[in-house]
Amino acid sequence: MKTLLFSYTTRILHFLFACFVLLAYLLSDTNSLLWLHSLFGICVLLIVGLRIFWFFVSEDGAKISSFDLKLSSLKNYVTNYFSFKNEKIRNPAASYSAILMWILAVLVSFVGLILIGAKYGSGIFGYLFLLDIDKHLIKEAHELFGNLLILVAFFHVAGVLGDNFLKRSDIAKAMFNGEMKVAQDKKISTFKNSSLIAFIVLSLTVLFGFYLGMVKTNIFFNSEISHQNYKLLAPTMVGECKECHLFYPPNVTSLETQMNILNDLPNHFGTDASLDNETLVKIINETKKLAPQKSPFRFEDLANSESIVKTNRWKHLHEEFDDGWFMENKVKKTNCKACHINFEDGSINPFELK
Ligand code: HEC
Ligand code: HEC
Repeated sequence: MKTLLFSYTTRILHFLFACFVLLAYLLSDTNSLLWLHSLFGICVLLIVGLRIFWFFVSEDGAKISSFDLKLSSLKNYVTNYFSFKNEKIRNPAASYSAILMWILAVLVSFVGLILIGAKYGSGIFGYLFLLDIDKHLIKEAHELFGNLLILVAFFHVAGVLGDNFLKRSDIAKAMFNGEMKVAQDKKISTFKNSSLIAFIVLSLTVLFGFYLGMVKTNIFFNSEISHQNYKLLAPTMVGECKECHLFYPPNVTSLETQMNILNDLPNHFGTDASLDNETLVKIINETKKLAPQKSPFRFEDLANSESIVKTNRWKHLHEEFDDGWFMENKVKKTNCKACHINFEDGSINPFELK
């Protein structure tokens, strides 16, 4: 006889977890969609949180006690694949892979939050932006956990397919209808009417996702820590240099490049931008004072007042826009603020794009 083992809620949580992990993974290479990648990553955390709560209040099939985490069972399962009899509702391989995936999902999401904190000053770990930490190492850890998660997920799916086709079990179908044959004769509690709870879980998750996507100043994305108030820090520079164009914050190039620009104002990118000596000295002092500030997006020494947009690095970062795009949309390449909305605060990051 088939028993209803997995309630709607359990199945919805399973399905959402798989979707969010997959979507986050697929978006991991597109920098301009980092916000969406992060959004799915945060949703993964939410789902794992709900799932842990569900361990304790759910039907027997989803409870932590339904997992078989004995190492001897795992060994037994591997060596006697075809004759293995489950002691618990889940077989040991399924139990281990599920727990491992949840742990890895929490790790990858947390390290991801640490990474955007350290790199862009974004989110709950934004204060890390002010410290000198190795972002490369954090990135490697994030990728390692992510790849491991996908690897375990792959084995998990392979295991399900194996059970389904080699052992002709109904596990694959059970993920959709929740029903499975169970050998045990002991009574298993079921949760027949959890559709309301499932609906609430689904709606709250979707609403939460939409909130994150619409309100980019949410606590996970907000990056005010990396903003500077240059009107206060460098009033003369802001006043004078904004006469003709947007304010290029001093952290966008090296001190050397800025000094070259300031020392050659009469030949300023084809224009005469000369200043009287007193103002120039003030601006030079402001520039020097601000020089040590951190910036993850500095364009290092530009040769002879070369435009930032002529550097290979800029071209590479903006590959997705060709010259035709800029013509069509009537945006000047040098008008960084057109896309990086907080550019004049010295902040460039994928959460602050137009
Ligand atoms: C008289 C007008 C004028 C003033 C004042 C002026 N600029 Fe410029 N600036 C220009 C023009 C014109 C360009 C080249 C066209 C463009 O990039 O929009 C330019 C380009 C730049 C660029 C290069 C952007 C790129 O393409 O990489 C920087 C940096 C810059 N200015 C900094 C400054 C600073 C710092 C000050 C204040 C000391 C300043 N400018 C004052 C007219 C001016
Ligand atoms: C047409 C829109 C647009 C314009 C104009 C533009 N950018 Fe970008 N920029 C993007 C997009 C999209 C990305 C990719 C997402 C990201 O990395 O933030 C990007 C990425 C960057 C990055 C990498 C940030 C990171 O993730 O490490 C830097 C630095 C940058 N831009 C600087 C500039 C500067 C400086 C200017 C002006 C000279 C400029 N951009 C003009 C759209 C634009």
